[in-house]
Amino acid sequence: MPDHSTNGAAIAAALRETFAAWRGDAEGVQVVRAPGRVNLIGEHTDYNDGFVLPMTLDRAVYVALRARSDDRLRLRSLNFDEEVVLRLGKLPETPPAHWATYVGGVLCELHRRGEVTSGMEMLLFGEVPLGAGLSSSAALTVAVAVAVENLTGSPRDPAETARLCRHVEHTYVGVQCGIMDPFVARLGRAGHALFLDCRSLDYRHVPLPLDQASIVLVDSGVKRQLAGSKYNERRAECAEAVAHFQQHDPSIQALRDVSPALFEQKKEGLPDVIRRRAQHVIEENARVEEAVRRLEAGDLQGFGACMNQSHESLRDLYEVSCPELDFLVESARQTPGVFGARMTGGGFGGCTVNLVEKLSAEGFWLDMVDQYEKRFEREATVYLVEENVEAGAIKRSFS
Ligand code: GLA
Repeated sequence: MPDHSTNGAAIAAALRETFAAWRGDAEGVQVVRAPGRVNLIGEHTDYNDGFVLPMTLDRAVYVALRARSDDRLRLRSLNFDEEVVLRLGKLPETPPAHWATYVGGVLCELHRRGEVTSGMEMLLFGEVPLGAGLSSSAALTVAVAVAVENLTGSPRDPAETARLCRHVEHTYVGVQCGIMDPFVARLGRAGHALFLDCRSLDYRHVPLPLDQASIVLVDSGVKRQLAGSKYNERRAECAEAVAHFQQHDPSIQALRDVSPALFEQKKEGLPDVIRRRAQHVIEENARVEEAVRRLEAGDLQGFGACMNQSHESLRDLYEVSCPELDFLVESARQTPGVFGARMTGGGFGGCTVNLVEKLSAEGFWLDMVDQYEKRFEREATVYLVEENVEAGAIKRSFS
């Protein structure tokens, strides 16, 4: 069976009960969530000032929060069954990728900005799978930032929340990620994908045809161990390409500014690897714009073709795929009812995203799990996305 998300109101009610068992009562506790995401197209373009088209999932990170009258921050993760206690303005002494580093990083930054002025107690629960490339970390940092906003009652510019969360990943966690993940976790809308210009941060919500097609995520189970270092390596390669094109046009600031024509004229002199990295980014940006046109015109075949091309480019030019992801994409493309398939997220493991005719979705995922097991002797987990949610408070239901 595909792994299903639980109803948000049921999770919020269970969190309040757990909170009461933990702290004696749940008076004044507010529950907020922020969703994980899947990127439909536009991979490794965000940190090149380019275009992306992610959507939120139906799975989120939930935060149950209330203020304290002293300067203690009492944080508890249900997923890890761990508690960390801090003083206001202090960072935890946890390793960079530890959940408390993300949470403590956000709280420290917000304390510095004067948004966090008292202690708090915070219970955390996430249903976004970890290490699957579905951005559980952005869901976590955004959920904490939105929870604080909800508690203090002073709204913050949503784009500023996304920048803050990216800053926490850069500074405290050490991954030089782009703006896409926190931006869509904060600003994604139910029933829509989000078309984002990562330079201007202009965006548009694009309706998803969820009545006709399902988004099926197939998790290869390959964890992205090297993802951090390889990711930073790709960023450095893009910077090298930018330096090359700047010699021809000093106004170029990012690969976003290199047109396909300029690339063709001036690619000589670039080392082969750097040329391929740049080609991927330049063509992928154009593909996102094309894919958005197709989606808005209701052309799912055309949209799927863009997804397929994106995968080939990530595999051959940007080299961030792996045999398991390539196998899942190849098998999907041979299955009837599949509009398009590609790896999604940073790469080197994680999930494929498949756009599948709604009525064919069940046969499709059953077939994928079967074929994957025969080929790799391991189980693929399937996430069937038939609806998606947005960030915000979950109001208490008294019915
Ligand atoms: C990771 C990063 C994103 C983005 C993708 C690749 O998910 O967190 O910012 O760069 O990789 O598209």
